[in-house]
Amino acid sequence: MSYATEYQASIDSPAIFWGDKAKQLPWFKAPEKILSTDKNCIQRWFADGEMNTCYMALDHHVAQGRGEQVALIYDSPVTATKKQFSYRELLEKVSRFAGLLQANGVGKGDIVVIYMPMISEAVIAMLAAARIGAVHSVVFGGFSAHELAVRIDDAQPKLLITASCGVEVNRIIEYKPMIDEAIELAAYKPARVILLQRQQCIANMQHGRDIDWADAEGSAPLADCVSVSGTDPLYILYTSGTTGKPKGVVRDNGGHAVALKYSMSAVYNMQPGDVFWAASDIGWVVGHSYIVYAPLLHGCTTIVYEGKPVKTPDASAFWRVIEEYAVKAIFAAPTAFRAIRKEDPDAKLLAKYDLSCLESVFMAGERLDPPTYEWTKKITGKPVIDHWWQTETGWAIAANLIGIERLPTKPGSATKPVPGFNVQILDANGLPLPTNSQGAIAIKLPLPPSCLSTIWGDFGRFDSGYLSEYPGYYCSGDGGYIDEDGYLFVMGRTDDVINVAGHRLSTGEMEEVIAAHDAVAECTVIGVYDNIKGQVPVGLTLLKDGVNISEADLQAELVAMVRKEIGAVACLKQTLIVERLPKTRSGKILRKLLRQIAENQEFVIPSTIDDPASIDEIRAIMQNNGLVKPTAQA
Ligand code: COA
Ligand code: AMP
Repeated sequence: MSYATEYQASIDSPAIFWGDKAKQLPWFKAPEKILSTDKNCIQRWFADGEMNTCYMALDHHVAQGRGEQVALIYDSPVTATKKQFSYRELLEKVSRFAGLLQANGVGKGDIVVIYMPMISEAVIAMLAAARIGAVHSVVFGGFSAHELAVRIDDAQPKLLITASCGVEVNRIIEYKPMIDEAIELAAYKPARVILLQRQQCIANMQHGRDIDWADAEGSAPLADCVSVSGTDPLYILYTSGTTGKPKGVVRDNGGHAVALKYSMSAVYNMQPGDVFWAASDIGWVVGHSYIVYAPLLHGCTTIVYEGKPVKTPDASAFWRVIEEYAVKAIFAAPTAFRAIRKEDPDAKLLAKYDLSCLESVFMAGERLDPPTYEWTKKITGKPVIDHWWQTETGWAIAANLIGIERLPTKPGSATKPVPGFNVQILDANGLPLPTNSQGAIAIKLPLPPSCLSTIWGDFGRFDSGYLSEYPGYYCSGDGGYIDEDGYLFVMGRTDDVINVAGHRLSTGEMEEVIAAHDAVAECTVIGVYDNIKGQVPVGLTLLKDGVNISEADLQAELVAMVRKEIGAVACLKQTLIVERLPKTRSGKILRKLLRQIAENQEFVIPSTIDDPASIDEIRAIMQNNGLVKPTAQA
């Protein structure tokens, strides 16, 4: 089967194509309605199928004789711990925790929020929720109490699952004070908190509300799988949009399972029994899809790695894990490889390790810049595959599908659209652009299985944020072009979302925090080039009249505020005081223009500009402060 034939089949007859792929999974009742339309006029996959994602990921494999195979490896250099769980053991742990959830009143359709570090119990909690038909919403452990509170209010969970702490390279992050503060801040109060005590830090428990995971688990009955429909939600995952309010991407059970199962062979060329390692975090979509669900749905072994690419203990961490567990495919963000290259530019540490087990290196989360691509390819001697995707899709939109046909690589390109994604480049009027012309990357509807069907509790936001701009298309928020060979080049966001060390963040959210400072009259946050993290945010502020504060003092206060309100992961380290910002006559800050200056791109001065001289002024300030991407990188 060639890539072209496979892709064309998916576009010409989506229902036949995906109906066929769905047969790879053990449904309780196989779907007959493959593609149907819901009350919001959104096309949905497998509406009448009955299933359970946890059953497909665990029980089925045990029933098929895979019970003694290792399902999950936990490797934690930050706590010097290693553990392995067979499919049978993992099933037992998940069933027991699912029983504990049920005993605490969690049932089908209820929400549970999971705020946990990278430990096996986080995966157990997610699968346990899926097992009883509950909906999990995992919040990244690097987010602050305030961010957690916002998500609690939006998701309204019956129960919260957490651990006493996370462990970063050189410090312990106590979770419990953040949990307590978040519940205090939130208007909605979850009835219970289940907490896993880790030996690195013992949390104080609140009588009547908090439950000790280990104590309570022993008496919990084993829970069986609860049947859900293909369109019932499996999880909500919040992601950054252009406003301060995160968007709860809703993922269906059926489409998710079908797309992920297919992706393991088509995109990653993995066979059941192989070891797959996504070096991400369960708080991000990569972690949901490729640490937890896809490897298990496919009968592979997955790795939960509690560490970093560097400093745990050094830049050989990735090579050590690959050799030790015979990893066949690794998936990480380019920023991780840039961090390794910085510490070990000639990859001297790699010489100690045997990477013969490794077939390919996959990268996503941000644009794979050609120098990082070339370096990784050179030092590993393996194919390096860039693939483009989003929280909204849950899997790759464009990739080199090595499980179908390996196409020649073009550095800087994510190769070609994945089957099911009809990718088009549109101009501002929604008309298709010719090859090699840069425009908005859009996907012609219907979206393939696994893509979001709504924003939690706010269909209008889904419609206005993704569907209304170009009727008949999903608007990705990314810009780029398709070349004469059909290769897709994703060049970056067209909105106010930035990508910091592979983490998607909203500049609008940071602006809200900065604007709350007493001295600040107006502000904007832009993403500027960083040679390790890809982008980092920088705040440009205008002071209120009569305020007297030094740039350094203001910066220190704003950095602390963003850290407190959003989290350390936002990485806002620099703010400047400016006299004015380029604006339209109606007073709107020209953010796109600032982005283009920072990216060192050509730009057209909008006719609506209030004061054209403000552009030269701000460009000079940005240049003097090193905020303009160097020409070689632009
Ligand atoms: N809990 C608490 N704090 C966290 C955290 C977590 N789960 N994750 C990150 N942080 C904190 C860090 O400790 C750091 O705090 P500091 O400013 O006090 O040092 C801050 O958030 C920024 O963290 P990070 O962006 O991870 O920077 P770093 O310098 O520690 O590490 C990299 C740089 C490149 C090694 C790291 O960002 C990385 O591995 N990135 C890959 C990201 C990834 O996998 N993305 C998923 C998409 S595939
Ligand atoms: P997230 O939803 O956190 O996965 O972030 C999705 C965003 O990351 C996309 O909209 C892109 O801007 C960016 N992104 C992810 N993968 C790639 C890639 N391979 N190339 C370019 N940008 C990417």
